Amino acid sequence: MIKIAILGYGTIGSGVVEVLRTNRESIAKRAGQEIEVKYILDLRDFPGDPMEDKVIHDYDVIADDPEIRVVVEAMGGVEPAYTFVKRALLAGKSVATSNKALVAKHGAELIAIAEEKKLNFMFEASVGGGIPIIRPLNSSLTADEIEEITGILNGTTNYMLSKMTFEGLEFDDVLKDAQAKGYAEADPTADIEGHDACRKIAILTSLVCGRQVDFEEIYTEGITKITATDIKYAKAMGRVVKLLATSRRTKDGYCAMVAPFLLSKEHPLYNVNDVFNAIFVHGNVLGDAMFYGSGAGKLPTASAVVADIVDIVKHLHTHIMVSWSSKKMGLVDVGKAQSRFFVRTDAGEEEVKAAFGDVEWIDAGVDGERGFLTASMAEEEYEKKASGLNVLHRIRAV
Ligand code: HSE
Repeated sequence: MIKIAILGYGTIGSGVVEVLRTNRESIAKRAGQEIEVKYILDLRDFPGDPMEDKVIHDYDVIADDPEIRVVVEAMGGVEPAYTFVKRALLAGKSVATSNKALVAKHGAELIAIAEEKKLNFMFEASVGGGIPIIRPLNSSLTADEIEEITGILNGTTNYMLSKMTFEGLEFDDVLKDAQAKGYAEADPTADIEGHDACRKIAILTSLVCGRQVDFEEIYTEGITKITATDIKYAKAMGRVVKLLATSRRTKDGYCAMVAPFLLSKEHPLYNVNDVFNAIFVHGNVLGDAMFYGSGAGKLPTASAVVADIVDIVKHLHTHIMVSWSSKKMGLVDVGKAQSRFFVRTDAGEEEVKAAFGDVEWIDAGVDGERGFLTASMAEEEYEKKASGLNVLHRIRAV
């Protein structure tokens, strides 16, 4: 029997308890032994909860208990999660976490400690919730040079953009709806400003290139400026707006960004709607692969955390190598990124032609302005060409 401790009895922590209880027998069979929750660390008490007597408030009890072999971190945020996780590893305990903020910031260091101590630091649930993507990148796609990884990595914003598309609603109304349904946080900034997706693509890019990619260096644009009028134009083009987190290998290195994109019907992520997430991967020998599923939520995320626990229990004395060194990897200037641009302007046709040459005009029946799609060009070229025009809004298109 393996004894574990869970840090944080919120959505994910309680989900882990539920998954361990629901699939107790099959999990024990796959892990090779029973898994028992010995402690749950939380600031609160949970009177009446079946796990009430496991709840403690002092982390020292967990760190100092040699019986605890695995610590599950489900607190979220960088601190105190980082301090607790590092201490757990240094005390000889493997760790499974769902915390993208922790992994994006300190993943390389925590992996190095786990390697040194012959333990494991696992973080499948930190990207794409229940969708397996960390393990495939680390174990299954190792024959490839990954040339592109592009995902819809935030369920909240995908739900909001889908609702704007299907129901023609404005941003503020769908945000209220997402909050009422419990998808968006009370403070939804990290979702709608793209910060959540940014940390996730930083993790994926670090894994793909084997070096530390700092999330602060990734150009990030959220969905707060997307309006019902933009969606009207998107429909006129037969496209949909999606918040993409993307990383591409160029001859000079990786170029990463998070931003809303207009996707054509041919794009593999076109049909990914509601709270679902998907990750498209292109390898130089594999070609294309897609990973699709529930990217957020209690049980899907807990499913990935428990799968990590099982893997840890199966490899109690072996470190599973993860290629992610703390050596920093600079990114290619986003000004070099290529795409088409959809532009809304109140400038005249001649003015647009003078700036961009031939463009594809989009008629969405909107008064007092015109919309057009440019040819594919680098961001810096677009900025130069658009500088003389009064641009009402622009969205990248692929
Ligand atoms: N807020 C995140 C989302 C949760 O909406 O995708 C999962 O990381």
